[in-house]
Amino acid sequence: MAEEALSEKARRIQELAVQAAPCPACDLAQSRTKVVFGDGNADSPLMLIGEGPGANEDATGLPFVGRAGKLLDECLREAGMLRKHVYITNVVKCRPTLEEMGKIKNRPPRADEIGVCVPLWLEKQIAVIQPSVILCLGAPAANTIIHRNFKMTQERGQWFESKYARYAMAALHPAYILRQEGDAYAQSRQLLIDDLIAARDKAKQAKSEPKMTLF
Ligand code: URA
Repeated sequence: MAEEALSEKARRIQELAVQAAPCPACDLAQSRTKVVFGDGNADSPLMLIGEGPGANEDATGLPFVGRAGKLLDECLREAGMLRKHVYITNVVKCRPTLEEMGKIKNRPPRADEIGVCVPLWLEKQIAVIQPSVILCLGAPAANTIIHRNFKMTQERGQWFESKYARYAMAALHPAYILRQEGDAYAQSRQLLIDDLIAARDKAKQAKSEPKMTLF
């Protein structure tokens, strides 16, 4: 079967992913299996940004493929979208880990790791994709894209201007939702679906607005 030609953005993203694959820039390079660069549609106006890869992502090289990723896929579907409609990546591209009682666990990325990774890779991804809408999944992405000391309980679901995209908003991280039980689980899951719908609608709205490149 003939291969489909890549769009210009997809080709440039692929080039960046090749450059990132051997990245030695921070200590996470020592323990990672694969750099998890991103997945989905480089031509989408909607970019989702998570925190950092976990074990499944580290093993496969793809973002959001573990339990949190399955929940994200479900919520995307309930919001009328598939992965191929959005571009998905993380603030840091390598799995942050810690050892606890002989077990390797995930941990949030540290400020120094974010400070190295964001200008090297995330900012370049954003510059190629030029999304009109960024939906931050969780606080580390919101702190990076929207503003420092982002308060998820007060500020999720609100639209902000960002130097990275005309519209930016933060939603609950799927891994956080998975830690909820009963009504709290159902409610937080629904909030993520609502935020995905709002982001999808905002991206549609932005298409009909005059183009302004802020970054
Ligand atoms: N959590 C994230 O923030 N990103 C992933 O890719 C997987 C889990």
